[in-house]
Amino acid sequence: MTVCLQDMLGGTWKGEGRGSYPTIQDFTYTETTSFAHVGKPWISFNQSTKSKESGAPLHSESGFLRLLPEGKIELVVAHAFGIVEIYTGSIQELEDHIVLELRSAAVVSSPSAKVVESTERLIEVYPDLLRYSFLMAIPDYPHQLHLEAELKRA
Ligand code: HEM
Repeated sequence: MTVCLQDMLGGTWKGEGRGSYPTIQDFTYTETTSFAHVGKPWISFNQSTKSKESGAPLHSESGFLRLLPEGKIELVVAHAFGIVEIYTGSIQELEDHIVLELRSAAVVSSPSAKVVESTERLIEVYPDLLRYSFLMAIPDYPHQLHLEAELKRA
């Protein structure tokens, strides 16, 4: 399972997503994410996004997906906008794809960053297709969808 996910993810993926939240205007974006592994039980990744409307850089994040025994996983992510997230979750291997479900164990903001109370990522990895959704809660707004995207192997 560990080797399989590392091989399935390794390399660069590109695609498009859309974002929303009750406090902001809906938006669409393009994304490039690269995954790499060195034979240890983790996968490193770097993501960057651009506005589809204007081409301007948007969000960027980097992190490590840690592969643990018995289908458990952890994800640590550092964001350019001053937030660090730690997730715990699980991997499920289905017939033709792998599902990763992750819930935040901690979300920490730098003094100048926005406050985020909880986050969640649902990721489906097919041989050449990666689909994800991202949910979050911020003060006064319950846990709900912020992002959905579909990437293809570049
Ligand atoms: C593909 C990745 C992402 C993109 C393209 C993206 C894009 C955006 C955009 C365009 C906005 C509205 C303008 C702004 O406030 O800057 C926004 C707001 C926001 N995003 Fe994201 N975002 C992404 C990921 C995330 C993640 C991972 C988090 C949390 C860990 C997050 C938290 C927020 C928050 C807290 C707001 C402000 C909501 C408010 O205060 O009203 N975003 N995002």
